[in-house]
Amino acid sequence: MARMNAPVSQDSRSPAANPAGGSITARAAEPILRIENLCVEYRAAGSRSPAKRAVDGLNLSVNPGEVFGFLGPNGAGKTTTMNVLLGFINATSGDAYIFGTTVRQPIARQRIGYLPELTYYYKFLTAEELLRFYARIFKIPRTETDRRIDEVLKLVELEHARKRQIKTYSKGMQQRVGLAQALINDPDLLILDEPTSGLDPIGRMKVREIIQRLKTEGKTVFFSSHELGEVETVCDRVAILDQGRLKLVGRVSDLAKQYQLSLEQLFLKVVGYSIPDPARTQA
Ligand SMILES: Nc1ncnc2c1ncn2[C@@H]1O[C@H](COP(=O)(O)OP(=O)(O)OP(=O)(O)O)[C@@H](O)[C@H]1O
Ligand SMILES: [Mg+2]
Repeated sequence: MARMNAPVSQDSRSPAANPAGGSITARAAEPILRIENLCVEYRAAGSRSPAKRAVDGLNLSVNPGEVFGFLGPNGAGKTTTMNVLLGFINATSGDAYIFGTTVRQPIARQRIGYLPELTYYYKFLTAEELLRFYARIFKIPRTETDRRIDEVLKLVELEHARKRQIKTYSKGMQQRVGLAQALINDPDLLILDEPTSGLDPIGRMKVREIIQRLKTEGKTVFFSSHELGEVETVCDRVAILDQGRLKLVGRVSDLAKQYQLSLEQLFLKVVGYSIPDPARTQA
């Protein structure tokens, strides 16, 4: 069941993961990602002005095999949260755990695939070279590397362009090469920061298909997006963040039933945007 504006530590777990269940199933469904009282503050170097709190007491759990949509308006704190999970920035307080290990330890990130919000790859490399570079970073054995590269390029439908420099790719192709990069190490958990950003409707549908396929393979996907229609079709659960605070978390199907609103309408309501009444506007 979903709740609005409420403490979320229990809410954000599926019934199977609720310790109150006390069963073996509950233990097997230990969250793959757990965020506890996370706070992140940014302070301009040398500035006396108060620090900006980008993430404010966030509690969230993502269970194995879930596709989880991390939503919120621009500046809500989604990328900041992901940056903590990836070890790019440190939490001001609180912590996060991946596969039960604190993200402060690099080992926690070994089984993660990550697609950044903005991809800055060496544009003179071909897709194949880029993926080989990442395969080396992940210490994938050479014998396996070629097979893995073939697999991921096929998945993102870039086989035909594998020997072309990335600088000659369209934006959508660059986004897909980013996704291939995120998948090269066959990760169990994917953290994708706006994977469909800038893609045309076909490109978005393809990314959705890839996410669905990853789910059937048992992967867990945690992603941010502003494409709420898509989120609605692909996600098991969603969380809505606003000004660093968690406003709502729940199963997409429960939210639809409980509020009788589309995800987009619910989102607007949660972030305090009142939808104009067309009858009044016309009057
Ligand atoms: N390096 C930084 N230094 C100072 N403030 C920052 C920094 N990075 C982010 N912020 C601020 O933190 C807040 C959260 O930003 P964040 O990028 O996490 O939002 P977001 O939810 O990812 O937004 P978007 O949907 O636009 O990607 C914003 O107010 C932003 O201005
Ligand atoms: Mg962002």
